[in-house]
Amino acid sequence: MQDIYIMAIETSCDETSIAIIKNGREILAHVINSQAEEFSTLGGVVPEMASRMHLDNICIVYKEALAQADLAITDIDAIATTYGPGLVGSLLVGVNFANTLSMLYGIKLIGVNHMQGHIYALELENDITYPMMSLIVSGGHTELVYVENAMEFKIVGQTLDDAAGESYDKVAKMLGLGYPGGPLIDKLASTGNPTYKLPTPMNDETLNFSFSGLKSACFNQVNTMNMKDIKINKADFACSFQTVVVDVLLKKLVHACKLYPVNSISVVGGVSANSELKKRVKELYPDCMIPSNILSTDNAAMIGVVGYHLYLKGMFVETNLNAKPNISVEQMWTN
Ligand code: KG4
Ligand code: ZN
Repeated sequence: MQDIYIMAIETSCDETSIAIIKNGREILAHVINSQAEEFSTLGGVVPEMASRMHLDNICIVYKEALAQADLAITDIDAIATTYGPGLVGSLLVGVNFANTLSMLYGIKLIGVNHMQGHIYALELENDITYPMMSLIVSGGHTELVYVENAMEFKIVGQTLDDAAGESYDKVAKMLGLGYPGGPLIDKLASTGNPTYKLPTPMNDETLNFSFSGLKSACFNQVNTMNMKDIKINKADFACSFQTVVVDVLLKKLVHACKLYPVNSISVVGGVSANSELKKRVKELYPDCMIPSNILSTDNAAMIGVVGYHLYLKGMFVETNLNAKPNISVEQMWTN
């Protein structure tokens, strides 16, 4: 079979990323320009700033990706771009860039669901066996997704309010650690002990999650200690918070794997880069697939993998692609 080269574009949040993927598996180029440093002192992403930075960066990232792969745009068989979910202004930059390239050079266009990308990041390092239970833990989502066959997604549990990554970011902000909070809490927690008492949220038999109550409990404790001039042991607080989050994520994953027949298990998305989560999930399920850190957080290579699956199915965008900021993992682009 002829080799298929996909150019993948990802701009759903604060990473401008372009990858070139051969036959859905081999990364020929992968450029990730993260805006995290710009937002580190602001405590989170400012959507309008993120869109403007994508505009500043996208042409540079595009040229660098082609140079890394030593290819010309005319060598590319299809352009796959994230069209949702995400920040609308950020998504529009990648979507419009893809629409323009597709029209100018007559290249096929594919719209990719970002959450499906997080799951299929796995294929850059593993062979997936189905059915698979996948726990997606990112900045905007916390979901248990049952993937019965290739590219068939069913949400079987999800957060009713905040996402796990969001709670990491908010608690880090309370502790004055910076953004993104996940890696900072992860590092700090490894030097602490779980000495602070925090509630385990949604500690029930459902497959759903809730992190806003935990966030409020953290906020109240930190506030009270500040008001009473009690010094907070940040490492112990980070460790206490992380222990509760990892406990509940694992509890629900285990429950889901008992309720559904599975041949494989995976944990994906930005929070799957967490060292404690990785360690404890591997103790329970040694074969559990978790992407390496660079493929856990937002990146274009994972978008290219889904792009390849859709290429093989002939699912191309016929007219202009538009951004859909609120789509669920179960949705695919339809003309
Ligand atoms: O998947 P992702 O890059 O973007 C979204 O699609 O949302 O996830 C970003 C989230 C952020 O909330 C960040 O704090 C969290 O992933 N994160 C981590 C770690 N690395 C990134 N959370 C916990 N531990 C980490 N090591
Ligand atoms: Zn993401």
